[in-house]
Amino acid sequence: MLIQHASWIRMKDADALVVPVFRRIFTCRGRVKEAALEVTCDGVYEAQLNGSRVGDFILAPGWTEYSKRLQVQRYDITSMLRENSAGHNSAQENSSGENCLEVTVGNGWFRRTNAPWTGTQNPDEFLPAMLIAALHIVYEDGREEVILTDDSWEVSRSTVTLSGIFIGEDVDMTLEMKFEKVQICVYPKNILIEQEGPPVREQEILCPCRSFRTPKGEWVLDFGQNMTGYMAFEMDAHAGERLSLSTAEVLDRDGNFYTANYRSARSQLHYICREGHQSYKPRLTFFGFRYLRIDEAPENFSEDQIHAIVLHSELTRTGWLASSSPLLNQLFENIIWSQKGNYLDIPTDCPQRDERYGWTGDGQIFCRTATYQYDVRQFFRKWLGDMRSAQHENGWIPEVIPSLTAYNPGGAAWSDAVTIIPWQLYETYGDISYISDMYEAMERWIAYIPTVSKTPYLWTGCWTYGDWLALDAPPDYHPATIELSKRGYSNDDLVCSAFYANSVDIVIRAGKLLGRDVKVYEELHSQIVSAFQKTFEGRMNTQTEKVLALHFNLASSPETLAAALAKQIRACGMKLQTGLLGTPYLLHELTRYGYSEIAWSLLLRREYPGWLYSVSRGATTVWEHWDGIKPDGSFWDDDMNSYNHYAYGCVADWVFGKACGIQPLEPGFARAKIEPHPDRRVQSMSAVLDTVHGRIRSAWKYTDSGIRYEIETPVQTEIILGNKKRVVEKGRYIFGN
Ligand code: BGC
Repeated sequence: MLIQHASWIRMKDADALVVPVFRRIFTCRGRVKEAALEVTCDGVYEAQLNGSRVGDFILAPGWTEYSKRLQVQRYDITSMLRENSAGHNSAQENSSGENCLEVTVGNGWFRRTNAPWTGTQNPDEFLPAMLIAALHIVYEDGREEVILTDDSWEVSRSTVTLSGIFIGEDVDMTLEMKFEKVQICVYPKNILIEQEGPPVREQEILCPCRSFRTPKGEWVLDFGQNMTGYMAFEMDAHAGERLSLSTAEVLDRDGNFYTANYRSARSQLHYICREGHQSYKPRLTFFGFRYLRIDEAPENFSEDQIHAIVLHSELTRTGWLASSSPLLNQLFENIIWSQKGNYLDIPTDCPQRDERYGWTGDGQIFCRTATYQYDVRQFFRKWLGDMRSAQHENGWIPEVIPSLTAYNPGGAAWSDAVTIIPWQLYETYGDISYISDMYEAMERWIAYIPTVSKTPYLWTGCWTYGDWLALDAPPDYHPATIELSKRGYSNDDLVCSAFYANSVDIVIRAGKLLGRDVKVYEELHSQIVSAFQKTFEGRMNTQTEKVLALHFNLASSPETLAAALAKQIRACGMKLQTGLLGTPYLLHELTRYGYSEIAWSLLLRREYPGWLYSVSRGATTVWEHWDGIKPDGSFWDDDMNSYNHYAYGCVADWVFGKACGIQPLEPGFARAKIEPHPDRRVQSMSAVLDTVHGRIRSAWKYTDSGIRYEIETPVQTEIILGNKKRVVEKGRYIFGN
């Protein structure tokens, strides 16, 4: 990359909160054949050439493990250049050939300062905004010109006066630019890599569906959908007039605007107008919201002048679920929206509060659903690259990827993302490179566990998030205030050991695929299983304890354990009690051992705790807590209460895989199995999955005379309906009547 020859530049004496705009004016000395810009920064940037945006990658350069990897974008700017002869180029207005490249650099994730008013961070301690870029012009006569960032560039404070992921954006359009010479600075260039992930782009536009006054008298717009993105407006205004907008995910029980669950994140845009007609949208940040409060606006401003723009990584949709139940369909929609809202360059836990991290636990819990709903191959390739880079020397995987310096090892189920996610990608897409790329990292992870465990062949005595958010926790339960060991009644040692067994099992399967000798791991796995049975058999009390033992094949008599699980769920009123770790596998294990009816009851439950509870309360995304809003309209809490947290959306993989029954018999669905588990409480259901081998569709419908199945498959498929199994070739099939 040419950019390796450029220098990092910065604004002299600017602290970390200054949002500079770097500028280079240059003249094209002839007719241009092709031209490209390579650029990146230690924040997020927006580049403009001659007043037009370069490229459509929002929040470039994206978020990676910055100490090791920083993506460089390469844009074709041929058609944007002004040439100095009467050329063929459409951007011609100015025949002198003078061009102006401007790049504004905000804090972004790289320098993710907390909001300055929280007083927890001193901007002087952070890096200033820095830019590095290379422009390459090839003229039609064969000459070439290279313009690199160096001391010939200029810089000024930009009209963005404050910017950050948790800060929102302050803009002053009356500010005049005062350009000065840049300062060259020393910063590593060996971290620069080519763009790896799919870009984040503007995807959809939403117009307000309602404009109203709250009981407190505030002017609020409702976009009808909780989403991730920003607002955009166009208006006439006088210089100095202000437009101030705040965002919210939900209204409180009285119908008032509610922002406490953003915690310290200031989710606002403050815009000072220039004179005349103008339009704007934030350039260096994003928000998670459904509602917009207009705190201050120029006279005559109306809701017609504003809309919302949905952002997410560019991903192709591959999975669709539909049913005869409007509530279920809304749940399916909510899961899609939570994936869209949280697949913004990395898989995040939530897109709105002062977190928005790549929590490894949430990432692995939702991963199978994610691979069914969208083509996430490139998206995860990049994130797994960051995971490898972030892995600690001694083998542990941080709890969030990209990592944050102050953060910890993730522990069971979080760090196990290093085995679970590559294996899932292999299973969904049949691409062995996920395994070969990650095998060493997987091995290092399972080698780390015995170095910290207190018991041979188990994983005990270690810190863990346990069955996070489990409902069988003590009554005074609050994850932020209570000892970690009390987060749910599931035994932490059992939970950790079960995930240890699973990761070793994945390493065995992965190693075999790569032709490695895995005898040592096989021996280790059988030791873990027998230690597990010796230690925990007869002590599997909670739903999650049973589910994990079943799912990871650790129980000596699984049928008995499954029967006990079914009995327990019935006895507590057909309610799940599982947290983040038990929930993803609960319905699968019930179905696997013949208790589909209970799995369906849990799915269809409209009361707390149940997937349809939030839906019946008007949710448009998946909530972090089953009762994020309680039946009386009060909130679970102000803290840690996100309304766009996809983890429980993992139930979609049960709907694809069990309710509609689509499963891979060979990786990538090169051969498939279709074994639906219908339930009369739902009249009809269908799943469509675009696999790498083509489209699979499985649909069923109850009719007057029984049930009718429609199956479409691009590959040889085992179809199991009731007790009858048949093998069919590619084609469309109808069974039943
Ligand atoms: C996140 C979770 C995450 C957890 C760790 C929370 O704040 O939002 O989803 O996995 O911390 O337990």
